[in-house]
Amino acid sequence: MKLAVIGCGYVGLVTGVCFAELGHTVIGVDNDPSKIRALREGKSPIYEPGLEPLLAAHLREGRIRFTESIQEAAKECEVLFICVGTPPLPDGRADLQAVEYVVSEIAEGMDSYRLIVEKSTVPVRTGRWLEDLVRSKVKNISFDIASNPEFLREGSAVGDFLHPDRVVIGCNSEKAASLLVNLYTPLNAPVLVTDLASAELIKHASNSFLAMKISYINAVAQVCEKTGADINKVAVGLGLDKRIGPDFLKAGIGYGGTCFPKDLRAFVSIAEECGLDFGLLKEVEKVNDAMWQGFVRKIDDMLGGVSGKTIALLGLAFKPNTDDMRFAPSIPIAQTLLQMGAKVKTYDPVAMENAKKVLPHLQYCSDAYETVDGADAVAILTEWNEFKTLDLNMVKERMKGNAFADGRNLFAPERIEQMGYAYVGIGRSWPGMALPLSV
Ligand code: UGA
Repeated sequence: MKLAVIGCGYVGLVTGVCFAELGHTVIGVDNDPSKIRALREGKSPIYEPGLEPLLAAHLREGRIRFTESIQEAAKECEVLFICVGTPPLPDGRADLQAVEYVVSEIAEGMDSYRLIVEKSTVPVRTGRWLEDLVRSKVKNISFDIASNPEFLREGSAVGDFLHPDRVVIGCNSEKAASLLVNLYTPLNAPVLVTDLASAELIKHASNSFLAMKISYINAVAQVCEKTGADINKVAVGLGLDKRIGPDFLKAGIGYGGTCFPKDLRAFVSIAEECGLDFGLLKEVEKVNDAMWQGFVRKIDDMLGGVSGKTIALLGLAFKPNTDDMRFAPSIPIAQTLLQMGAKVKTYDPVAMENAKKVLPHLQYCSDAYETVDGADAVAILTEWNEFKTLDLNMVKERMKGNAFADGRNLFAPERIEQMGYAYVGIGRSWPGMALPLSV
């Protein structure tokens, strides 16, 4: 089948390249000429493991090509996926300007039946609004609007696309459903076909649920710290219950990225527009903020005040295997440490170029060992694999102090303390630790 993805960011590019991998012919559209130039040369403008080799292969085979013209794609392709950004407005609602523009351009370019698919995360009932928009612009041409939310995680997006837990398709016509089901047939994945509104809601409900799971485990971690329990063991015990499941129970400095913070706020706004107060989700956000704040407090306590001290931050991206700094907890952590008078050195394997734009006052280093040179404390903010295999004896030798703040619970506390460090993690307890017991 021939299809178009409009918007070649994380979602659109992965979707387009993976549809080409499934044997379809794809046109990728983006309004950024430099991005189109790079894509035509096989260069991915984003860091996503496994994406560039697939892009290069399908460019060579002619299965994917790129253009700046939405109308050209609308003329040639029966199915068009909208993959443009829906950033948050100041009040938390999603800004749908780019979606509106794309759909208007499709309406200008289409000359026979078209299926327009929402892939970008949009509030429930956007599909209805888009139907009215297209109807106001085209006469005597049939079309459908469908919702096909993406559940890709940055850093493993290609694998997530090719091996999904489920494909959700929401539409109000059999023709649209069968076109979309056919597109995904090569995946052999479970496909759920629903009405348009339900599919739209599934996306916000899923991301908000996952964020809630993370804040839940982080809230439990705080109780662990006061009671001598260990959150890693508690999470295993919880996760073994099939009704709960082991995923998304890693305690840490909180979730970041463009999806959870934005989608959670958007879902609260959607509920508000319906006259509902989704207080539960507001608490999720509060717990998330408390995690990075508590982590800064722990570093401050360990050092008896961070002013004038040197802190080495290892990892800046909001999670490993991505260069994405958006809403990363490292941002408020680094900013607060600087405000408190600390000197902050840092290293991240791929996110430093993006980090420099938002955190210009840090000292950027070329590796982890250079970062810890002369530091009073080392703090792990992202669980990159290369930090798991650090030579911690060498780290200790190069540091001035011995404070070890493990924001992702990467290490066994006892082992770290045996090496001569003072350790704090998130919700960790171990035999022999100095217990801050309140009960
Ligand atoms: C998330 C969802 O997982 C995807 O299904 C969805 O498609 C995507 O949002 C989206 O809406 O586009 P993503 O933001 O890429 O994907 O990253 P996740 O792997 O979900 O991690 C999000 C944040 O949660 C990260 O900061 C991570 O460190 C944190 N996290 C995750 C935890 O703190 N603990 C966990 O157990 C899991």
